[in-house]
Amino acid sequence: MPDAIIAEGLSKTFNGSVKAVDGVSFSVKEGEVYGFLGPNGAGKTTTLSMLTAVLGPTTGRATVDGLDVSHNVHALKQRIGLVFQESTADPDLTGRENLDLAAALFGVPLRDTPKRVDELLNRLALADSADRLVKTFSGGMRRRLELAVGMIHSPRVLFLDEPTLGLDPQGRAGFWKIVSDLRKETGMTVFLTTHYLDEADGVCDRIAIIDHGKIVASGTPSELKDRLGGDIVTVRPLGDAAALGPALQALPGVTSVTAQDGTFRVKCPSGDTLIPKVVGAATGLGIGLAGVSLRRPSLDEVFLEFTGREFREDEGPTATDRAVFLSRVQDSRRGRR
Ligand SMILES: Nc1ncnc2c1ncn2[C@@H]1O[C@H](COP(=O)(O)OP(=O)(O)OP(=O)(O)O)[C@@H](O)[C@H]1O
Ligand SMILES: [Mg+2]
Repeated sequence: MPDAIIAEGLSKTFNGSVKAVDGVSFSVKEGEVYGFLGPNGAGKTTTLSMLTAVLGPTTGRATVDGLDVSHNVHALKQRIGLVFQESTADPDLTGRENLDLAAALFGVPLRDTPKRVDELLNRLALADSADRLVKTFSGGMRRRLELAVGMIHSPRVLFLDEPTLGLDPQGRAGFWKIVSDLRKETGMTVFLTTHYLDEADGVCDRIAIIDHGKIVASGTPSELKDRLGGDIVTVRPLGDAAALGPALQALPGVTSVTAQDGTFRVKCPSGDTLIPKVVGAATGLGIGLAGVSLRRPSLDEVFLEFTGREFREDEGPTATDRAVFLSRVQDSRRGRR
């Protein structure tokens, strides 16, 4: 299958000193859902902005659907769809009017517009509210409308920058179900960024973990989990338990022990058989335990493993996101006039 996105040594330096993206290379196959996962300021939005010709790379190159993003800006914009975490829809227009406007902006032929708009309104469960002002829409409806706007011209590659931030779990699940279904129906490629590890795990065919502008790990969710090499037993001792670390390390089958905030993470091939040994070791040292839990590796662990930090899911957009967002809104308003 051909590559829909190719990035080679893509870098972006702001103000001559801030290396927001630092030599990122990856490729995304046609029809794949590819996720960029990383903490605030990791360089996700900057990468997505370069791939969508919103920002020019400082060095490196990228192609999307076979077009060089630095040289084919107009053609590129016709082939890609963009959805951002903040709403770009006009709150004082109805859902349908927003879609009509988007259709005109993206060059959908006038005679095809009503059919396309109806199709998307139905597809995204917005048909009943199509003629209501967008300012009366719920958060989930607004997100679905953004997706409809992004899809209006049937793009070959859809870019989603944290599109579900702020939605409740049900809203997020509904949103991703629609994206998955649309992908299956159209064969389009999807590039997304997210703070939600569980989302990346469930939705993406492949994932890249980005930290400080660099990809620190990539692969399918299960490849990434396999790389951790087994189960993780988390041991929470009561009170001072410095002696427990070496005792855990000495248990048969333990491959590593890390301590963070008084909690030990113990890696081993089989957590079930390790737990009684952990309890025995703690008892032998006279150390009480507040809890012992077993986790199959999730992307949370993958993230911790490759970045050395816990992933924090509750952080909002950075100032950069807002600035990029505002410039896009201004661009789109200019386009409308
Ligand atoms: N226009 C700019 N001028 C200066 N620095 C910038 C600019 N845009 C981004 N940066 C910096 O580049 C880095 C990467 O920012 P970016 O917005 O790409 O991160 P992100 O991974 O999208 O973060 P978040 O999860 O918060 O959205 C940050 O340190 C940010 O402050
Ligand atoms: Mg961002």
